[in-house]
Amino acid sequence: MAFKSFLSFCIVAISARIVSADDGDLGSRAIDWNDHQWIAPGPNDLRGPCPGLNTLANHGFLPRDGRNLNMSVILDAGFNGYHMQPDGLALAVKAATFTTDDPLTFTLDDIKLHGTIEHDASLSRNDFALGDNVHFNETIFTTLADSNPGVDYYNTTSAGQVQQKRLADAEIANPNITNTVKEFTIRSRESAFYLSVMGNPLTGVAPKKFVQIFFREERLPIAEGWRRSDTPINGSTLGPLSDAIAEQSHWTTSGGCPWIRAGPESPTTLVQHG
Ligand code: HEM
Ligand SMILES: *[C@@H]1O[C@H](CO)[C@@H](O)[C@H](O)[C@H]1NC(C)=O
Ligand SMILES: *[C@@H]1O[C@H](CO)[C@@H](O)[C@H](O)[C@H]1NC(C)=O
Ligand SMILES: *[C@@H]1O[C@H](CO)[C@@H](O)[C@H](O)[C@H]1NC(C)=O
Ligand SMILES: *[C@@H]1O[C@H](CO)[C@@H](O)[C@H](O)[C@H]1NC(C)=O
Ligand SMILES: *[C@@H]1O[C@H](CO)[C@@H](O)[C@H](O)[C@H]1NC(C)=O
Repeated sequence: MAFKSFLSFCIVAISARIVSADDGDLGSRAIDWNDHQWIAPGPNDLRGPCPGLNTLANHGFLPRDGRNLNMSVILDAGFNGYHMQPDGLALAVKAATFTTDDPLTFTLDDIKLHGTIEHDASLSRNDFALGDNVHFNETIFTTLADSNPGVDYYNTTSAGQVQQKRLADAEIANPNITNTVKEFTIRSRESAFYLSVMGNPLTGVAPKKFVQIFFREERLPIAEGWRRSDTPINGSTLGPLSDAIAEQSHWTTSGGCPWIRAGPESPTTLVQHG
């Protein structure tokens, strides 16, 4: 337990600069989209709280059963499906390895472990303490769906406003909310993710229709006109979007110390609320 506590190195890892990588071996492969039709998960297929990874599994970029995931499997899938480069994903994959005692692989279900990556005030899932923190919830998603009224796209301004509203609502609904700079950093990155993979990763403008299909159906909206970004998505493109979103969310902490839960036996938070 003491060692696992030591591993709970708070925000240091989240804010660490990530070594940039080029496309490397991943770059030259042509994608045959006929091999990547959307198929709904079957009863034995695992899915989790991440719409980005669930979508990759529904299209067969990740194993459709949602199992046996590791760094190379995820980096390949993110590149092929979304044109995301390794530096934008690797830290999340490293964190995901904390969510299970299996040292070699994790599943899409494992990553729901509350306090490692999974957090409160999500865009489309409920808080852990309030019930279902894994499955899409249309009521929760209403805030994002209805944002940026009058136009047919979301952008960094609306994404920040959505984060602010989701947090305000969660602070009222969930007396045990965890909202430190760690959760804030992850949430702002996730907002940059949906704007980037469904929209223009340089401007952060994403068609509402694409974003809504991505969350609600965990499907790439190819039939509706979506195409994988020509522009590679990486730390250099995600950083400015996250920063703009963070600024527009006018965030303040709800107290507590940043804490990365280092395994299923590790405490959920550093401080007990209540
Ligand atoms: C491949 C590109 C990815 C995209 C486009 C993506 C997108 C997203 C988005 C938009 C959310 C927010 C969902 C919400 O707030 O309701 C999210 C949540 C999450 N993602 Fe991903 N993600 C990606 C990769 C990853 C990776 C590599 C991991 C770890 C292996 C990961 C783990 C998670 C987890 C655990 C959550 C739940 C957080 C929460 O809402 O409590 N994601 N992701
Ligand atoms: C990741 O999983 C794939 C598929 O099971 C396997 O081929 C590969 O060797 C694994 N990579 C590592 C680094 O474990
Ligand atoms: C809040 O956390 C405390 C301590 O962990 C727990 O006893 C209590 O049941 C929780 N309350 C809610 C509403 O989740
Ligand atoms: C969705 O979230 C709302 C708001 O917290 C909650 O009342 C409702 O029960 C949730 N729906 C499901 C299916 O979990
Ligand atoms: C986002 O869109 C809204 C509505 O058109 C606009 O007022 C706002 O300036 C836009 N934000 C950015 C960063 O362009
Ligand atoms: C990151 O993405 C930008 C925009 O797509 C691209 O110009 C740049 O070369 C990428 N960086 C690396 C290290 O590949």
